[in-house]
Amino acid sequence: EASVFVQDAAAPRRPEAERQAALRDPGFGRVFTDHMATLRYTPDRGWHDGRIEAAAPLSLHPAAMALQYAQLVFEGMKAYGLPDGGAALFRPAENARRMQRSAARMGIEPVPEALFLEGVRSLVRADRDWIPRQEGASLYLRPFLMGTDPSFAVRPGRDYMFCVIASPAAPIFGSTTKPLTLWISDTLTRAAPGGTGAAKCAGSYGASLQAVAEAGREGCDQAIFLDAVERRWIEELGGMNIMFVFADGSLRTPPLGGTILPGVTRDSLLILARDMGLTVREEPYAIDQWQEDARSGRLTEAFACGTAAVVAPVGQVRGRRHEFAIGGGQAGQVTERLRTALIEIQRGRAPDPHGWVDRL
Ligand code: COI
Repeated sequence: EASVFVQDAAAPRRPEAERQAALRDPGFGRVFTDHMATLRYTPDRGWHDGRIEAAAPLSLHPAAMALQYAQLVFEGMKAYGLPDGGAALFRPAENARRMQRSAARMGIEPVPEALFLEGVRSLVRADRDWIPRQEGASLYLRPFLMGTDPSFAVRPGRDYMFCVIASPAAPIFGSTTKPLTLWISDTLTRAAPGGTGAAKCAGSYGASLQAVAEAGREGCDQAIFLDAVERRWIEELGGMNIMFVFADGSLRTPPLGGTILPGVTRDSLLILARDMGLTVREEPYAIDQWQEDARSGRLTEAFACGTAAVVAPVGQVRGRRHEFAIGGGQAGQVTERLRTALIEIQRGRAPDPHGWVDRL
């Protein structure tokens, strides 16, 4: 059956040497592939004009809703190389559905799940030779959806564009598992009850940048956000979730309550942890309690997790009122077991009991 996304066979491809160099040392979100998928929506025509075309600057009216009022939602997902030379996505329907929920929160016309998946798959097929094959690297996919009609009216837009771009990538903190140092952001928050924290909208990430910059000035790798009401409960980092491991063999992560991004990696790790026999708690965790538990040894490990970050151990935490190390600043065993279990499934090297691997 013909794809909704018609490929432009004349789209230029970059020279082989340039692609090989990018694949050897991709970094994160630095180099982009040859193509992009695009699809348009207008109220009279619905979704139409699907294309796989040359990845190139977009032409947007300067008053486009996405530019004026940040009417834009996005996803992060990856295509992984498999041992037999094939490639697979990981739980892509979760991303499709989350984008629909994010779209609803931002007054955006949702992309039907089948079209989302077809756009992503068509792009990965067109850019198959941009999937890095070395350990740790994959093809990061960035589907996004935005309001394109020009308007200063503060009401939902009318016309939309769905676009998927791709970028060969190593994990965001690099392929080593050197523990992170986190900075507690106690003055800036990223999400409030009733706000957009659970939506993967551009604004949630824009709102985290000042804290991330502050963390960098403090010599830390990432910021950790507390809840906006009591400034006490740990929520997430600037673009990834957080989990805690205790000496009694239990694992804890903040519950999804509207202010936390429902990560696909988060959900997958909770399932894998239960499979391993760990007691899993989705319960609030207070910043002071974390410090106390880390110092007493009741808490033994903590790690950041997300599609871009994969699983990254936390070794140090600092803030204006806190300073403590976790597990002597070393990466922990449970973190490492979970990280390996996830990666082995994603790369097709371990059985896939939950049916997460979506071969292309
Ligand atoms: C991801 O983990 O895919 C994210 O979206 C985090 C960040 C790069 C925005």
